Amino acid sequence: MNKEIEKVLGKFSYGIYLLTCRYEDTDYGMIISWVTQVSYDPPLVLASVKKTRRVLPYIEKAKYFSLQVLENTQAEILDRFKVPSLEERFTGLSYQILDTGVPVLTNVLAYVECKLVDVLGPGDHALLVGEIVSGECIKDTGVPLTCRDLGKVYLGKY
Ligand SMILES: Cc1cc2nc3c(=O)[nH]c(=O)nc-3n(C[C@H](O)[C@H](O)[C@H](O)COP(=O)(O)O)c2cc1C
Repeated sequence: MNKEIEKVLGKFSYGIYLLTCRYEDTDYGMIISWVTQVSYDPPLVLASVKKTRRVLPYIEKAKYFSLQVLENTQAEILDRFKVPSLEERFTGLSYQILDTGVPVLTNVLAYVECKLVDVLGPGDHALLVGEIVSGECIKDTGVPLTCRDLGKVYLGKY
């Protein structure tokens, strides 16, 4: 991709979410910003996960995942979900396990719980299409964390 196109894509606006799933009693999570609603009826969201992410095979096997809206005061969660050990990412965090098995942090702004209904892969990211089976707005007030708060945008390069 040329530098000018990278610059344009760097102007796109994104929220920052925590994507989680549970497979064989282990919880998995990663930070993701390429997320969008893609249908109203049925309610569908799309999450774009680089094909090399270690969490991806577990989402595909678990068939359910959650997308959690982080608050703009929760940027420290990003560091924790970067740690190399997948197992350590949830250590010490307070979270609940929903009916479909997905873990959801207790202090996020809101979340949706999704059934994986399709996976598309024309590029270097897997496009996970999730049908929302439940959702909850945990806090009515609070401002969602966005890439603008971090001063940088995820470009999918690394
Ligand atoms: C703000 C932010 C946004 C990100 N957005 C995405 C994304 O949309 N898709 C993706 O595959 N990775 C994204 N990443 C990278 C992943 O969080 C990734 O988990 C991390 O680089 C570690 O890879 P691993 O989970 O395979 O260890 C993002 C990272 C940050 C900090």
